[in-house]
Amino acid sequence: MDRNLALEVVRVTEAAALSSARLMGRGDEKASDQAAVDAMRQAFNGLAIDGTVVIGEGERDEAPMLYIGERVGTGQGPQVDIALDPLEGTTICANGAPNALSVIAIGERGKFLHCPDTYMDKIAVGPAGKGVVDLDKSPTENLKALAKAKGERVEDLTVIILYRPRHEALIKEVRKTGARIRLISDGDVSAAIATTKPETGIDILIGIGGAPEGVLAAAALRCVGGEMQGRLKPRNQQEVERAQAMGIKEINKKFSLEELAGGEVMFAATGVTDGDYLKGVHFFPGGATTQSVVMRSKTRTMRFIDATHHFAFKPKY
Ligand code: FBP
Repeated sequence: MDRNLALEVVRVTEAAALSSARLMGRGDEKASDQAAVDAMRQAFNGLAIDGTVVIGEGERDEAPMLYIGERVGTGQGPQVDIALDPLEGTTICANGAPNALSVIAIGERGKFLHCPDTYMDKIAVGPAGKGVVDLDKSPTENLKALAKAKGERVEDLTVIILYRPRHEALIKEVRKTGARIRLISDGDVSAAIATTKPETGIDILIGIGGAPEGVLAAAALRCVGGEMQGRLKPRNQQEVERAQAMGIKEINKKFSLEELAGGEVMFAATGVTDGDYLKGVHFFPGGATTQSVVMRSKTRTMRFIDATHHFAFKPKY
């Protein structure tokens, strides 16, 4: 994959972020998501790839755009698989809360886990926790191991967890260890990535969130040298069958980081609302600023890109 592709793809996440950010705080999840999808779909037309969406807005019958299997790009570049979420955190954006992102990961053909829109049990840490945590161990064991690897006390760690009733026992156990907790309403892709940046103060993500979001987070962690493991948590037999139809033979399998997002990977994200990892879109008369990150697994390069957009030269946002 041409390394310049990573710098090109950021235009696509910027377009989706600029478009959805206009609707921040309107309370309309559907409209902000649609704005992101439309802008991302259009921006893909300028990208020199022969891309196939493998993690997208849903299956063909439920998503008119950016559906799984859809071909994107000019068709004139490398054959790649695309995992995307035009607006990760639709409720966040609708409420004007922190950490909504627009996200794309690009990988070699067949190297991203193909999974339906079901749940996934996840554990994610930055490079300091590589080889240290294990989804099969208890939260207590993992926190002790991570604290040891970081040369800290468990009490010094901050665990980020989606605030959901399904996590009641998990939260209870983590509280018992003495570790601090950040409970978030949504947005576990941003949360997983935040574990890789010491300034965020977030050490580890634990818990069940979306499976497609798990693949996206894994792509970023591959680029940064972090660690993540995931296990599908289908809600019903239909989701089991959909996973099987997508080639997953062992539903209870613990997927390693490389099994979630293997091969050479590029990852780009643009902040929609201000967050731990990226600033959101800020508008000014006639334009807006965005902040994005672009990463490549091959070199582990990470570039933070602050951009100023003048709408006189761009489509209307
Ligand atoms: P959306 O952008 O699709 O709304 O996802 C937001 C999110 O919070 C993800 O970050 C997370 O993985 C998932 O939803 C959790 O699902 P649920 O809200 O059903 O617990």
